[in-house]
Amino acid sequence: MSTLYAISGVTGMTGNELVRQILAGREGSDHILGFDNFFASSIETVKDCLGDGRFEFFEYDINNKVQMEDFEQRVAAQKQRYDEVIYINCAAVVHTEHFYHVYDTFETNVTGMNEFLQQAVRVGAQKFINCSTSEVYSMHSWNESGGVREDDFLTMSDAEHSQRTSYAVGKLLTEFFMRDAVDTGKIKGCSIRFANVYSRNERFPKHIIPFIINSFQNEGKVVLLENSRRNRRTFLNNYDSCSAVLALAGTDSALDGTVYNVATDEEISMVDLAKLCGAKMGIAEPVIEFEGYRESDPERRLLSTEKIRTRTSWRPVVDLDKGLDECIANYLGM
Ligand SMILES: NC(=O)c1ccc[n+]([C@@H]2O[C@H](COP(=O)([O-])OP(=O)(O)OC[C@H]3O[C@@H](n4cnc5c(N)ncnc54)[C@H](O)[C@@H]3O)[C@@H](O)[C@H]2O)c1
Repeated sequence: MSTLYAISGVTGMTGNELVRQILAGREGSDHILGFDNFFASSIETVKDCLGDGRFEFFEYDINNKVQMEDFEQRVAAQKQRYDEVIYINCAAVVHTEHFYHVYDTFETNVTGMNEFLQQAVRVGAQKFINCSTSEVYSMHSWNESGGVREDDFLTMSDAEHSQRTSYAVGKLLTEFFMRDAVDTGKIKGCSIRFANVYSRNERFPKHIIPFIINSFQNEGKVVLLENSRRNRRTFLNNYDSCSAVLALAGTDSALDGTVYNVATDEEISMVDLAKLCGAKMGIAEPVIEFEGYRESDPERRLLSTEKIRTRTSWRPVVDLDKGLDECIANYLGM
């Protein structure tokens, strides 16, 4: 079995690790065409793979029609050599700083995703994996029985509180595009709701883990939002987000157009996360200050992953302890 992969956002946290895991598998029979516009990443994340003839990279923008036509032609030209073609959409405007601005996220996350899906259908790809987000659970991101489930009813009517949910609404719409394409027999596929992906090679210290490490390193303290006094989160290493994508892509029976939560259940408060990073960096009494407040930020985000665990053999393997060690070693050049 050989596969031609078409991956958007390929230098991002999930995309770059996908490349690594695909190249490491199946004894050289697979090939990857990937692109990214470096909005939130750089070529550095895949530099160890660029010399491999099975990976072709293009500095393309998912919203650029000419570039996407070229990408489509390249997939069409190569697809006969492979048993199947799998599209994986990782391109997105992801950081929280953009969530509150509806136009920052709409074009890439909604229109761009749908165009990429239609491209996959046109070229006759067998499968499409849509990376969505646990943000769709909004302020109801947990429940008392061990985590929110995919089939729990969503309450998103909070436009009166904050624009934040506009990002989630856009991502939710992509889940409907995915579902429609499968229900109408155009392609197989599914959507994945990730929770708080992190990576040792994030380019900018915007997500919380690199932010904490960089703050301790450069400022000698970390300044967290007031929300952090209460907020708790789980964190998903990009090795595990990526292995979930491949586990689903490799399980035809799971590609029924529905949604899968992908997360860990290792919950930690923001304050304890900062203390843990400090301890791992050898700081005896880490200085943690609080400033600023983020509206409509859920206090917890705890997902049930029973569905993916039941339908595939996927399990997360990088716990927070190991993942933080890798991040700290990478950021501090240890
Ligand atoms: N990081 C998280 O915590 C998280 C949580 C939930 C869902 N997700 C979803 O997972 C998917 C993968 O995200 P990630 O964690 O790898 O984040 P990421 O920001 O590291 O990767 C996204 C990639 O998309 C690229 N990109 C942005 N706009 C683009 C455009 N117009 N054209 C081409 N490329 C573009 C960025 O440069 C980046 O490399 C996304 O769909 C994201 O919404 C991520």
